[in-house]
Order: sequence, then C-alpha cells, then structure tokens
Amino acid sequence: MWPYPRIIAHRGGGKLAPENTIAGLRAGLAHGFHAVEFDVMLSQDGIGVIMHDPDFGRTVAGRGSVASTTAAALQAMDAGSWFGPQFAGERVPLFTEFFEFCRANRIWMNIEIKPAPGHDAATGDWVARKTAELAGRPYPSTLGSDPEVDTGSAVPLLSSFSFEALAAARDAAPQIPRAYLLDKIPDDWEGQARELGAVAIHTNQKHLTPVMAKAIKDAGFGLFCYTVNDPEHARTLLSWGVDAFCTDRIDLIGPAFA
Ligand code: G3P
Ligand code: MG
Repeated sequence: MWPYPRIIAHRGGGKLAPENTIAGLRAGLAHGFHAVEFDVMLSQDGIGVIMHDPDFGRTVAGRGSVASTTAAALQAMDAGSWFGPQFAGERVPLFTEFFEFCRANRIWMNIEIKPAPGHDAATGDWVARKTAELAGRPYPSTLGSDPEVDTGSAVPLLSSFSFEALAAARDAAPQIPRAYLLDKIPDDWEGQARELGAVAIHTNQKHLTPVMAKAIKDAGFGLFCYTVNDPEHARTLLSWGVDAFCTDRIDLIGPAFA
C-alpha cells in the first residue's frame, strides 16, 4: 500500500511560481496542496540548498556553480526574477528552512537528492542525516490536528537518480525511506532497487508501459511517475496501478484528483 500523498506539486509550486522556492510552496498551499517534490544539492561548504541545476544561468543569473559557491552566497541570490518581476525577492532556500516551512504547514516532502557532478555520496549522506535529524524533532503541537492535511507529519521520502547517493543515504539513515528514480527502466531495475532497500520506483511517465507498471507493483514496490501534466494521461497511469505522481499543473490537477 502507498502510505504517502498521491498528487504532489513538482519543484514546489509547479509552473505557477519559480521552482524550488518558498513562493512555490505558498502557491501549492493556495491550490490545496500539502505534498511537494523538490531538489537538494550541496553548496561548496557542504550545506544543502534547494536547487535543480548545478550551474547558474537559468533560475539564478550569472555564471558559476552551486558546488563552488558557499551556502551564504547562494542564499543571497535572486531565484525569482527569472520567473517574473513579482518574484524578485525570492532567494535560494536552505534545505533546513525549506524543511521547517513544510513541517510548519503540514506539507509532506518527496526530497530529491540532486548531487552536483562528482558529489553523489556526500549529497546522499548529508540529506539523509539532516532529514533524520529534522524529522526526528517533535512536531509543532500548536498546529492541532487536521486529518485532511495531516500528511505533513509523515516521514519524508528520499529519491534520487543517483545509485551512489541513495546507497550513501541508506548507510547514513536506513530508517528514512528511499525511492529509486529511473528515467527509462533498465532490465536490472529490481536488483538495484533491492540493493538500495528502496520502497518505490519513481519513473518518467513518458516511458512507462502498463506491463512495466504491473511488474513493479507485483514485485511489491510503490510506483510514482514524474511529471504528469495532462489529466487524461494521469487517469490512464492511475488505471495502470501507478500510486502517485507529481505535476507542474497544480492549477489543472488538484490534490484530490482521481
Ligand atoms: O523527482 C521527480 C522529478 O523531479 C525528477 O526530475 O529533473 O524534475 O528533478 P527533475
Ligand atoms: Mg526533481
């Protein structure tokens, strides 16, 4: 059984806000989402920040890379203007502040470990350790309980395309669940997933077939697809046994989509 939310906002707020920013989380909340996928990379000084691309030039201006810039310098960078002038105040978030915002707002997290090239094991290790530390803290009791949005108290799910990063995460914090991200599913997927102790396969919706979906489910794994933006295809995937998916179109596909 899939114990996590089924419809997840991709990179924060999908296409409605700059990706991997607090503004994205707010956009998701405004559309009723209490489940998010986002990407974590290590800075030069070994601190997790919320970034997708290893190099600057798309979501932050200029030249340079995450792995050669300190967290303090990254945190000062404008991660919103590329998307629209109204987001000019948005910064590159630290992993810890992003995590705490999610917990305070009862947002469940699919934390994608996104190593900069050559930093796979260090990134997997850091993200798993920090997740275990932060998730182990008592949940803010002042929020009360609301069964509709109580998914925020569930343990996050780590995922990565990097086998090495996930192996490091497994070794650092085996109790935090892991999912193996695969673009096209290779023949030896099951052996790799078992070696990682993965609970789920996360795969590209473009390449998934109903036969492969059945094989993954029959083998006892959860099955998640990225990134599903067409409601009709979303229904098809769910009919194949897909447990969950992330979407950029949080305006078209709501959290209660079925
Ligand atoms: O985690 C699913 C999806 O986010 C993987 O691809 O490139 O959007 O991080 P990407
Ligand atoms: Mg991602």
